[in-house]
Amino acid sequence: MPDDFERMWADLAPVGRSAASGGYFRQPFAAAERELAAWFLEACAARGLRVETDAFGNTVGWWDTGSGDAVLTGSHLDSVLDGGAYDGPLGVVSALAAVDELRSRGFLPSRPIGVSVFVEEEGSRFGLACLGSRLATGAVSWETARELRDRDGIALADVLDVDPPVSNGRVNLLAGVGTFVELHVEQGRDLVDRGAAVGIASEIWPHGRYRFDFAGEANHAGSTRMADRRDPMLTYAMTALAANKQARLVDERATFGRVEVVPNGTNAVPSRVSAWLDARASSDESLAELVATVTRQAQERAGRDGTEVEVTAESVSGSVTFDPALVGRDDWPVIPTAAGHDAGVLSAAGIPTAMLFVRNPTGVSHSPAEHAEIPDCLAGVHALADTLERLSQ
Ligand code: GLV
Ligand code: MN
Ligand code: MN
Repeated sequence: MPDDFERMWADLAPVGRSAASGGYFRQPFAAAERELAAWFLEACAARGLRVETDAFGNTVGWWDTGSGDAVLTGSHLDSVLDGGAYDGPLGVVSALAAVDELRSRGFLPSRPIGVSVFVEEEGSRFGLACLGSRLATGAVSWETARELRDRDGIALADVLDVDPPVSNGRVNLLAGVGTFVELHVEQGRDLVDRGAAVGIASEIWPHGRYRFDFAGEANHAGSTRMADRRDPMLTYAMTALAANKQARLVDERATFGRVEVVPNGTNAVPSRVSAWLDARASSDESLAELVATVTRQAQERAGRDGTEVEVTAESVSGSVTFDPALVGRDDWPVIPTAAGHDAGVLSAAGIPTAMLFVRNPTGVSHSPAEHAEIPDCLAGVHALADTLERLSQ
């Protein structure tokens, strides 16, 4: 007998958990995430789901019933660095539990139902968010992705070992998929404020990741007069403040959450600072404008600091509108999100897609404080089972 939701959840709880922070380190193709991937294969086997894996490590467990276009549901098992337990795994565990629930209802789908796990959704290792689903949909080519490198310089191609790529005998997991539904922990407090356990996504804000490389001159922290310095840390610091101010002015989002300093010594003016801007806005135009404004301010400051700045867009995701009608409930809140999801990538690839959100009492995400109460998780499983039943009839 397959485990129920709480048993599955308890199985996953220790995997990749930091004793120090209570957060999760489930980076793609590293030990903890591979343990979760193996757990998923076992969970599929326990349910008699036929497993298919593509060249990139994306996996689907198929409930081969009925015929015609399949209904796919699932999420991801990787986490951000020091992330929460729910972002990703909640959607996978709920999908398995929803299959169990449909079976215990005695429901026989008229269409195949698949439970999916896409790899590297967070982009925490190779930098490109939704890497697995982008590869699966062709939104990014293998020729481009194979060169992506992690912080230790290891290329994706070395980790995946799929050369020569993928055209020969390639498994296309999404061929024949008619709809996709992703259940996800809410990454805000909208559902708390509305007193609802479950909501439906209306849209994803456009968002992107931009690497700012600031170059200056390494020099002695004591003997170099302040006026003689070309310090890229100053240009970076002003840029981070400017990004925050610009985003506040227009009620959008701008975050520098990652920075690398060379040589990163206490008693040296750095030679280089690289910092990653995560920017999000309500429209494609306002996102482009926000990034252009921050870039211009960085360049102006670089002129005053005697430094140079170069900006590289590492990934940009356009606005996505979901189809809440797929869920078929007009009594659940319909809410937008500024978080990215594989559902957005599949939707952009032309697959009719819906998302369900489960209430998060802390409203916090990408942090150990991310949370959902078990009764709300179970409400999410029921909601997902209802949605799958409706879509696969
Ligand atoms: C993924 O969760 C993102 O929004 O960055
Ligand atoms: Mn996330
Ligand atoms: Mn997620």
